Amino acid sequence: NESEEVRGLEGVIALSSELSSIDGEAGQLVYRGYDIHDLAENASFEEVVYLLWHGDLPTQSQLDALKSDLRTARELPAPVIDILRQAPDSAHPMAVLRTAISALGLYDDEADADSPEANRRKATRLLARTPGIIAAYARLRNGDEPIDPLDEASMAYNFLYMLNGEAPGSAAEATFDTCLVLHADHGLNASTFTSRVIGSTLSDMYSAVSGAIGALKGPLHGGANREVMRMLLDIDQKGADPVEYVQEKLASKERVMGFGHRVYRTMDPRAAILRDRVQELSEERNATKWYDYSMAILNTVKSEKGLDPNVDFFSASTYYMMGLDPDLFTPIFALSRSAGWTAHLLEQWADNRLIRPRAAYVGKTGRTVTPIDAR
Ligand code: CMC
Repeated sequence: NESEEVRGLEGVIALSSELSSIDGEAGQLVYRGYDIHDLAENASFEEVVYLLWHGDLPTQSQLDALKSDLRTARELPAPVIDILRQAPDSAHPMAVLRTAISALGLYDDEADADSPEANRRKATRLLARTPGIIAAYARLRNGDEPIDPLDEASMAYNFLYMLNGEAPGSAAEATFDTCLVLHADHGLNASTFTSRVIGSTLSDMYSAVSGAIGALKGPLHGGANREVMRMLLDIDQKGADPVEYVQEKLASKERVMGFGHRVYRTMDPRAAILRDRVQELSEERNATKWYDYSMAILNTVKSEKGLDPNVDFFSASTYYMMGLDPDLFTPIFALSRSAGWTAHLLEQWADNRLIRPRAAYVGKTGRTVTPIDAR
């Protein structure tokens, strides 16, 4: 029925997927049958990538082979580094990432090859190169030269190493790895849906992932993590009371970034895991400011609006306490979600049908053209 519009496609089942499921009432997130708490505690990002791409957790030799493939694939084409070099200082970091990922396709001989094997190789190249793109961009923007990754290190380690030029501590590596695990997939969120819509036209993986990055950039989606940190920094700079600050926002009908969710009706399980990480980091360092602000905001938004935090609320302070620039927060989300986007594309292409919904037409009808000089 054309008149039955579902605003924002809320609750609409658009396709079937074996990748991840969300129970919004229970606050549960599962990747291929494994609860996110279990994976966050017991699996590395690389193992989760394997799980998403192949269906099961890897054996040691399968994991070694994946790591070796990622290692072999990660070198950036020189023209892509030039693009990063030339990006204007004022560019939005997600626009830079979107452009660089799109440019990767220009230098991939298999960009338009559509066999399952070629698509798996492209997924590997795309994921392997994303950390280097983000780290190189961050360094070039500060006037520093990019740094090559180390051979035998994890993606989490190498990202932090390429960014800072020094070995991350094991706690930083573990926290960052957990963040990558938590953001890897999340049902049919806006960016994943975007990637599948693009994929469903039988366009290529670079087009689909560039489009997904464009969707993730928005502040209602992945862009929220940077906005959360901006809010915390604003509170700090102004010396404001976080409770009053947020009350004012709500009174003026502004959204508080990092709260609310289309699917969860309770706390996002990823937010709960990161809340505990922020608390641990704060206690370890005897510096609880960001945690205290966050909890004050959380309690206020919960009591005033009944809204719970989503993943972006606590990822912001986690990353900030790790010394990461807020401009990199959403690109880091994209780095992790590339695992999910590419897994969804492989799934889409294994059983493709064009995604093409309809709009309820509510415009004018029955008009006839008046000659231009008579309008
Ligand atoms: N702050 C204040 N009010 C809110 C918020 C918020 N963050 N989120 C929802 N509401 C209110 C909204 O104003 C509306 O109230 P009313 O009915 O009185 O007008 C009600 O809650 C329902 O909101 P909605 O916009 O219809 O809900 P939605 O399902 O369309 O939106 C959302 C979901 C995530 C876009 C929204 O909650 C939001 O804008 N949150 C802030 C941005 C954010 O944190 N995004 C990250 C999402 S999760 C992880 C990710 O993808 O990165």
